[in-house]
Amino acid sequence: MKTIHVATTVNGDPVEFVCAPDESLLDALRNRLGLTGAKEGCGTGDCGACSVTLDGRLVCSCLVLGVEAEGASIGTIEGLASGDTLHPLQQSFIDHAALQCGICTPGILVAAKALLDRNPDPTDTELRYWLAGNLCRCTGYDKIIRAVQDAARQMRNA
Ligand code: FES
Ligand code: FES
Repeated sequence: MKTIHVATTVNGDPVEFVCAPDESLLDALRNRLGLTGAKEGCGTGDCGACSVTLDGRLVCSCLVLGVEAEGASIGTIEGLASGDTLHPLQQSFIDHAALQCGICTPGILVAAKALLDRNPDPTDTELRYWLAGNLCRCTGYDKIIRAVQDAARQMRNA
């Protein structure tokens, strides 16, 4: 099949890849660029496991075409940590045991960071609404909410 050349930015680094015209951004990230943090839970925009940011907007990468990344700025879970130092959200998820199987975790972390970038002090209700598109079959959500709120507190006080 014909492939298309795409030049984009991922986590601040310029990258290029080729992909099929109908290939999702999720598949391009995972299979062309080796960025396997974003997960495919459903492939239909229902679970949020594939969440990334596209020009600062939170999107389901399974619903975006790889070619739509042309000229854009993509943020993935791989961009959260700084070298060996975890992002406060990542550390807080460990501290609060806010993950079990982990398949939802990259998407939830990307989504939570996107919220805190806009609103550093969300209410629990705002946080639950924001994360409503990120399904977790394991944790029951309470630990996730506590972990995000604790990270938000730490980030406000940093
Ligand atoms: S894999 Fe994209 S929303 Fe589920
Ligand atoms: S930790 Fe298993 S789905 Fe969320």
